[in-house]
Amino acid sequence: MCGIVGYIGHREAYPILIKGLQRLEYRGYDSAGIALINDGNLNVYKAKGKVADLVAFASEKNITGSVGIAHTRWATHGEPNTVNAHPHYSQSEELAIIHNGIIENYAVLKQGLMENGYTFQSQTDTEVLIQLIEFVKKSNDVDLTTAVQLALNQVVGAYAIAVLEKSQPDTIVAARKGSPLVVGLGENEFFLASDATPIVEYTNEVVYIGEEEIVTLRRGEELKIRTIGNVQKTPEIKKLEFTLSQLEKGGYPHFMIKEIFEQPHTLADSMRGRVNVDENNVTLSGFIDNKDKFLNAGRIIITACGTSWHAGLIGMYVIEEYARIPVEVEYSSEFRYRKPVIFPNDIVIAISQSGETADTLAAVELARSQGAFIFGICNVVGSSIPRNSHSGAYTHVGPEIGVASTKAFTAQVTVLTMLALMIGREKGTLPEDKYLTIVRELGRIPDKMKTLLNQNERIAQFAKTFTYAQNFIYLGRGYNFPVALEGALKLKEISYIHAEGYPAAEMKHGPIALISQEMPVVAIAPNTGMYEKVVSNIQEIKARKGKIIAVVTEGDEVVKNLADYCIEIPDTEECLVPLLATIPLQLMAYHIAVVKGCDVDQPRNLAKSVTVE
Ligand code: AGP
Repeated sequence: MCGIVGYIGHREAYPILIKGLQRLEYRGYDSAGIALINDGNLNVYKAKGKVADLVAFASEKNITGSVGIAHTRWATHGEPNTVNAHPHYSQSEELAIIHNGIIENYAVLKQGLMENGYTFQSQTDTEVLIQLIEFVKKSNDVDLTTAVQLALNQVVGAYAIAVLEKSQPDTIVAARKGSPLVVGLGENEFFLASDATPIVEYTNEVVYIGEEEIVTLRRGEELKIRTIGNVQKTPEIKKLEFTLSQLEKGGYPHFMIKEIFEQPHTLADSMRGRVNVDENNVTLSGFIDNKDKFLNAGRIIITACGTSWHAGLIGMYVIEEYARIPVEVEYSSEFRYRKPVIFPNDIVIAISQSGETADTLAAVELARSQGAFIFGICNVVGSSIPRNSHSGAYTHVGPEIGVASTKAFTAQVTVLTMLALMIGREKGTLPEDKYLTIVRELGRIPDKMKTLLNQNERIAQFAKTFTYAQNFIYLGRGYNFPVALEGALKLKEISYIHAEGYPAAEMKHGPIALISQEMPVVAIAPNTGMYEKVVSNIQEIKARKGKIIAVVTEGDEVVKNLADYCIEIPDTEECLVPLLATIPLQLMAYHIAVVKGCDVDQPRNLAKSVTVE
């Protein structure tokens, strides 16, 4: 996600815009830019890197003007560099745009514009949008608001945009669909931003722009809103009640809990333009462009660290089950040094949220040097691992600020599932009816996550009773064994309570000696896979007076009678259970850590990205 700021009024825009970008830097920070209108000029300044780099770059420039827009970027299309940074000019340089979101049909729109003589400077979907607005404006001889409205009717995807027109220094036109946008109402001035953080110090009166609404901010006039269907809307003025710090976290106390709650939205973003439930189709361009590699692969090696390694383990289960290609999952730190045997027809999937984890980057370089095909699954566009990969798929969850990975994990699992579905369908190892069932169910997961998140308060309540524990054990089988590992990692890295994840059946090979009332056992027991066997494992623990927290499928009565606490998750396909079962484990770890007074977003000794060995 990117950060958007706009200002029009009686003050100098530049300081307000820059300060606004600094407030939004948590939303994205690989490049930044600003557009100002002054004396009939539309000046655009942009720089790769952080907002401070933009300030340094603009310091010698003409930064006067009382109307402007500014943007801090989280790249989704195109490398993080100056050319791809926003704002983007239209071809005539009469218009400039900033954008937060993903235009799914940008390639088709771009082709049409090129056939009408438009050329492009960047790789971004955003530049396509401003060229479309200009094309529509000129073709229909309409004002900017109408041109934006007509253009957005051709767009598929998510957007929050702000547009300037050189000849209209008294106007900013903005619009949103799927990405947030809010207007601050001052005395003869308007503020525009992705959220209220850049606005709160100037005014507490705001209007939250609704889905598919276009807003026209004109000096000296009331704010005007119309839908992209050209229906006039009356602005609803709200009062801000949050502090600045709370606003950066979207009103949540920590980034981690905010990111846990973002998952329905970020999971939808990771599937956007890839899972088409209406057409029962999954398309990952990184697979399509390299189909032969996957169909002829002798083996897939997944290399990653930490939570990303847990996602890789789930990837092994789903790829082997549906694509029938042998998969090995390697800790990058071991893989890079143990002199592994790597064949030229190996595919190496490197999973990394940051795209900068030193061990995983080294593993990629080793595999690449021995001829393997590298497929990166990362979240930070243009980071080192994607740049060293032959192809890949971004997770598109926006910046993950909390050190404990949550939304990136569920998106990694989703991308791996999409990959397994595509390979299996192509190879014929996944029956069409099963493929369709899973695709349809994948489309339902974001809503099922929303339902599940409603249990947050209840989980917070019972989690508090376990802050005494010095040790936890997490158990799962099949797809939920990696979930057990992930739940254990979440707990230990933010609450500092020791926790182990184990395959449930392994208990009798040693760990069952540990069972006591002092060591809570989290058992993941959905009604899929080897449910009866997990129930037996739970009975073995119960018989030894273990305290059991069970994650079960809604309506389960059997485990409910055995466990001390039960968290119900919606029913779903076996291979998709991890996307739901992980949520209560994230919440439980979070609430225990909060009660223990731990620094949830920046746990001791940990870094968000381990760029050293
Ligand atoms: C997970 O909560 C941890 N922050 C850590 O294990 C992390 O997953 C690991 O360091 C890998 O990071 P990456 O995904 O950025 O490569």
